[in-house]
Amino acid sequence: MNHGKLRQQIKLGLVTGFLALFGWNWMPDQTLAAQEEPPTEEAQAADDEIPPTDRDELLKWLKAGKYKAKFVSEKKVHPSDGPHGGNVLTYYNPILVEDLKDKKTLFRTGASMVKELYLSGTEKAVGYSVMIKTKEKGTKAKGKFWLFYETFDGTNQNPFYGKGVPLCVNCHTIGVDFLRSTFRPEN
Ligand code: HEC
Repeated sequence: MNHGKLRQQIKLGLVTGFLALFGWNWMPDQTLAAQEEPPTEEAQAADDEIPPTDRDELLKWLKAGKYKAKFVSEKKVHPSDGPHGGNVLTYYNPILVEDLKDKKTLFRTGASMVKELYLSGTEKAVGYSVMIKTKEKGTKAKGKFWLFYETFDGTNQNPFYGKGVPLCVNCHTIGVDFLRSTFRPEN
């Protein structure tokens, strides 16, 4: 055996030894971490379908665009008929979509809408309006079974937030269980 080959074999031995010592321990940890990370299927489904009611969680959820996977949206950004920051695009969650298809006029707990506010543009949502039904009750309770949220600038510095916010309720009370949009998902 010549010296070059011997050196190569020593080098190979060192690398294998290193991998055996450190690589071996390191690999299973990585695999374990990867297995622990994804949430359960139920948690994931709920997370996609109903917005969180906590204000800060809600804003994070909106910014991450979590509603986009399962909510049904209007076809196009359009000017709002209400005081909702110029151009808007409204999304309904699967519970609301099902209720509308069933021609319900009182929606179930969890029925939700997200409205993207584009202000004067049409490309980028700057703010959000959200409504979440927190209890399946009638329309006579001054809207306190709906959680209302609105931010015009995408921050939580001065948002509207709360159950039955009077300003929102005043205008939404003439809707179908507070729903004002005329958009209905196709059957
Ligand atoms: C002056 C009337 C008016 C007020 C006040 C108002 N809205 Fe609306 N809102 C509307 C109208 C009209 C629509 C229908 C879609 C559109 O044209 O923007 C609507 C739509 C929405 C939607 C989409 C679901 C739906 O009902 O169509 C959300 C969410 C929403 N508003 C949230 C709010 C929140 C939160 C507040 C209070 C901070 C509020 N709105 C105050 C008139 C109003």
